[in-house]
Amino acid sequence: MPSNLYLLVLPVNVLYVVIGIILFLSLHRAYKARARVNELRKMSMPMPPWNWFTGHLLILQRYMSKFPKDTFINVIISDVARELGNVDMFYLDLWPFLKPTLFICSPDPAFQAANKFNLPKPSMYRVMFEPINGGPNLLTMNGEQWKFWRSLFNPGFAPAYLMQQVPAIIDCVQTFTDRLRDLDGKVLPLQNFTTPLTMDVIMRVALDLELNCQRNEHPLVNSLLTMISWSKLGNPLARFNPVRTFVLRKHDKIMNRIIGGELQKRFEELHNSSQSATDVDSKRSKSVVTLTLSEYHKVNNNSKVESATLDKHFADFATYQLRLFLFAGHDTVTSVLVYIYHMLYKHPEVRYHMCQEHEAVFGPNASNASNILRANPLLLNQTPFTLAVIKETMRLFPPAGAMREGGPILVDRNGLKFPTDDCLVSNSHHTIHRNPNVWVRAEDFLPERWLVDASHELYPPPDAFRPFELGPRMCIGHNLSLIELKITLIMTVRTFRVEPAYEKWDELKGKGIAERALGKWWSGCEKVLTVDGDRAYQEEKGGAHPSEGYPCTVQVISQG
Ligand code: HEM
Ligand SMILES: *[C@@H]1O[C@H](CO)[C@@H](O)[C@H](O)[C@H]1NC(C)=O
Ligand SMILES: *[C@@H]1O[C@H](CO)[C@@H](O)[C@H](O)[C@H]1NC(C)=O
Ligand SMILES: *[C@@H]1O[C@H](CO)[C@@H](O)[C@H](O)[C@H]1NC(C)=O
Ligand SMILES: *[C@@H]1O[C@H](CO)[C@@H](O)[C@H](O)[C@H]1NC(C)=O
Ligand SMILES: *[C@@H]1O[C@H](CO)[C@@H](O)[C@H](O)[C@H]1NC(C)=O
Ligand SMILES: *[C@@H]1O[C@H](CO)[C@@H](O)[C@H](O)[C@H]1NC(C)=O
Repeated sequence: MPSNLYLLVLPVNVLYVVIGIILFLSLHRAYKARARVNELRKMSMPMPPWNWFTGHLLILQRYMSKFPKDTFINVIISDVARELGNVDMFYLDLWPFLKPTLFICSPDPAFQAANKFNLPKPSMYRVMFEPINGGPNLLTMNGEQWKFWRSLFNPGFAPAYLMQQVPAIIDCVQTFTDRLRDLDGKVLPLQNFTTPLTMDVIMRVALDLELNCQRNEHPLVNSLLTMISWSKLGNPLARFNPVRTFVLRKHDKIMNRIIGGELQKRFEELHNSSQSATDVDSKRSKSVVTLTLSEYHKVNNNSKVESATLDKHFADFATYQLRLFLFAGHDTVTSVLVYIYHMLYKHPEVRYHMCQEHEAVFGPNASNASNILRANPLLLNQTPFTLAVIKETMRLFPPAGAMREGGPILVDRNGLKFPTDDCLVSNSHHTIHRNPNVWVRAEDFLPERWLVDASHELYPPPDAFRPFELGPRMCIGHNLSLIELKITLIMTVRTFRVEPAYEKWDELKGKGIAERALGKWWSGCEKVLTVDGDRAYQEEKGGAHPSEGYPCTVQVISQG
C-alpha cells in the first residue's frame, strides 16, 4: 500500500479503536452500576421494582409523569418515598444519569451522612460546578484544601460581622422596592425582580462591588446566566458539545476579568491603608473579601500586604470562591423569597401577624422602617415571627439538597444496615422536611411550630430541619441569607401585596383554552400543571424555583 494511503487509513483505525474503548468503558461502568444495585436488591434493601436494562429509569419516568414537566427531582423523590411506605432511605439506579444513589428521607440517617461521617463531596460536583465557577471552590473541595479556604472565609460570614453589612443590604432592597412600586398593576414574574436583588446583595456584601443589576444590565450577570444555561446541569451528554465548550470558555474569561479585577482593587486598598495607617473602613464597612485578605496576610505575617502584589495562586482561587458566592448566593435566596410572598398570599392571617410584628418593632410608618433599621441593625433580632415564617417556608420549599460520596454503612431506625460503597448518598431536604413520621401536620404551613417550647407536639425534632444542610459543610451563607430575607420582608410586606397571576400570564402568553385543548388532543390527556393543586410548584432550574418565575401582580397598599 502506498505510504500516503496509510496516512488516511491510520486515523480512521485510531478513531475506531477510541470509539471501541469508550463504548467498552461505558458498558463496563453501566454493568458495574446495575450489578451493584442488583446485589442490594437481593439483600431486600428498600427500592422500587428494578430491571437489568433500565434500572429505575422507567419507574422514575412513571412517577415523573404524575407531575408537571421539569418538577424538582426531590419532589418526585418524596412521592417515591411515600409509596414505599415512608422508609428512612431507599436506593435508585439512575445510570447513566447518576451512580447508584441512596436517597435519605429522615433526620437520623441524614445526620449520619453529613455530621457523623461528614462524607466527602462527590467528583460529580466538580464536573457540574467547576466549569461555572472557574475552578475548585468551597462547594466542591474536600479535606485540607476545603478546611483552609473555609476557615479563611468564615469570619466574613459570621453574624456579628454581617451586622455591619446591614446598611449596604438596605440600599439594595431600597432599589427593589422602587422597582416594585413601578410595577403597579402589571403581570410579571416576581423572580425577574428578586434575582437581580439577590445578585446585587451578594456582590455588595462579598466583594464591595456595586453591580446595580436591578437597574442596568451587567456583563458579570449576563455571563453567569449564559454559563448556567449552557452548562445543562444534570445532562451527562452536554459536555461533549463543542459549542458549549467555546461559550463556557469565553464567559469564564469575562467573569475572571471582572471579579479578579475587583479583588485586585480590594487588595490595593488594603495595601494602601497599611502604608498610610488609615483604616479602610473609615468610610464604609469592609466586604467579606477584604476581611479574608487581611486574615490571609495575618497568617503570612503581613509580608504580602507590604509587597503590594497579590499572590497569583491565591488570587485565582479566591476568584473561584467569589464566583461561587454569586452563583450559590442568588439562586437559592431568590427562590425562598418568592415562596415567602406566596405563603403570605395563601395565609392572610400569617401576613397580618407579620405586619403587626414589623409595626411593633419599627413603628407605624412603614416607609421609615429602613431608616430605623439602618440606625439600629440589631433590631433584626427582635423579629422572631418573621424568622419563623422564613423557616416554615424553607421547610416546605427547600431549594437545594446535599449529595455526598458513599463509603460507610448507614443504619435506619429499625437497625437495618444500608451499604453505601460505590454509591452516592443524597440528603433529600424536601423529603426529610415533609416526612409524616417526623413532623406533626407535615404538609401544613404552621410558623408557630418555630415558636413553641420543647414540650409542644409541634416542636421541630432534632436534625430534621436542614435546608442549609448541617454539620461541617453547612452553607456558609446561612446567616447572610436570613439577614437578607428579614430585611427584605421588613421593607416590603407592609407596603406591597403580591398575588400570583398564572391565568393572566397564560393569556398574555397566548396559552389559552384553544392551545390547551390542542395539547390534550395531541397527547391524549390534559397536561399536568400543578403540584398539590398549586401552579407555583418547584421547578428544576439549577436549584428549585417557583414555576415560570412566579407571574404575579404587585399592589401598593400603603403610601407610608
Ligand atoms: C436560602 C438560601 C440558601 C440555601 C437554601 C443554601 C443551601 C445550601 C446547601 C444545602 C448547601 C450544602 C450543599 C451540600 O452539602 O452539597 C450549601 C452550601 C454552600 N452555600 Fe448555600 N444556600 C443558600 C444561600 C447561600 C448564600 C447567600 C451563599 C453566599 C455566600 C451560599 C454559599 C454557599 C457555599 C460557599 C457553600 C459550600 C460550603 C462548604 O462546603 O464549605 N449559599 N448551601
Ligand atoms: C425575565 O427574566 C428572564 C431571565 O432573565 C428573561 O428571559 C425574561 O425575558 C424576563 N421576562 C420579563 C417579562 O422581563
Ligand atoms: C493605592 O495607592 C496608589 C499610589 O498611591 C494609587 O495609585 C492607587 O490608585 C491606590 N489604589 C487604591 C485602590 O486605592
Ligand atoms: C509569623 O511569625 C511568627 C512569630 O514571629 C512565626 O512563628 C511564624 O512562623 C511566622 N509565620 C510565617 C508564615 O512566616
Ligand atoms: C414616613 O417616613 C418617611 C421616610 O422617612 C417620610 O418621608 C414620611 O413623611 C413619613 N410619613 C409620616 C406620615 O410620618
Ligand atoms: C425615621 O426614623 C429615623 C431614625 O430612627 C428618625 O430619626 C426619624 O425621626 C423618623 N422619621 C419619621 C418621619 O418618622
Ligand atoms: C449562624 O449564626 C448562628 C448563631 O450565631 C450560629 O450558631 C451558626 O453556626 C451560624 N452559621 C454558620 C454557617 O456560620
